[in-house]
Amino acid sequence: MDYENIYIEEENNLAIITINRPSKLNALNQRTITELHVAFKELGEDPEIKVIIITGSGEKAFVAGADISEFANFSVKEGRQLAAVGQEKLFDFIENLTTPVIAAINGFALGGGLELAMACHFRIANSNARMGLPEVSLGVIPGYGGTQRLPQLIGKGRAMEMIMTAGMIDADKAFAYGLVNHVVSPEELLPVCAKIASRISNNSSVAIKYAIKAVNAGFRYDADGFSAEIDAFGTCFGTDDFKEGTSAFLDKRKADFPGS
Ligand code: COA
Repeated sequence: MDYENIYIEEENNLAIITINRPSKLNALNQRTITELHVAFKELGEDPEIKVIIITGSGEKAFVAGADISEFANFSVKEGRQLAAVGQEKLFDFIENLTTPVIAAINGFALGGGLELAMACHFRIANSNARMGLPEVSLGVIPGYGGTQRLPQLIGKGRAMEMIMTAGMIDADKAFAYGLVNHVVSPEELLPVCAKIASRISNNSSVAIKYAIKAVNAGFRYDADGFSAEIDAFGTCFGTDDFKEGTSAFLDKRKADFPGS
């Protein structure tokens, strides 16, 4: 696919996806959602790519939300469809990707932008970042998983307040809430993400895949996370990576994971 609204840079085992509609503060229109779906699918299937970082272009925004101009006249049926298709194609898709995805929040992450960051496996913000779910100020609710993932990440009371007030929080408050793992200067944002990505890449990508599945299972209402963890843990014992990892430890050498 020829990308119009995103670009991808790859170096070593890392891919960086940049959403590139700065004149619209990187708002997510349908075209961008489709491009992101294709990009995540292809990078997720690439065994060379061990970690994916997603960020926004320009200095102002990560993503300022779903593109309001596209859905302002939608019917009930179209509104429902917008949320269902978006969740399946992008937000749930990222959460369930077994390649780790880090959100590098470089400015406004609002509405669908914060929902996109929350669908990633974890988040790092620069000190200019501002986050919120302003949907109720538009007469709608978060539709890309925000009502579920925000309470999971910061607790029900804080999420209720953020959703009901439609207000924004700054990076320090997001850190205090546990919404982002680190707050760094704008210049440090991508280098810090890349450094963490490099540490992740040294570990078994097979074991990481099962860890992601087990952690996610605990947040699904229809799955018992602890049983899923037991199953996934047992499965690891049949992998070459597990054999290499444990042998290397016992031999007091660095592991060289075969990736299977
Ligand atoms: N959808 C569509 N266009 C958007 C957008 C969105 N979510 N967010 C910003 N834009 C566009 C603006 O319409 C403007 O386009 P224009 O220059 O063609 O008029 C451009 O991006 C710049 O935004 P602007 O509002 O002029 O910047 P600002 O610095 O004054 O304000 C925000 C920044 C983020 C506070 C403001 O853009 C905003 O509130 N955006 C909407 C956030 C939102 O409600 N998101 C949830 C959507 S469900």
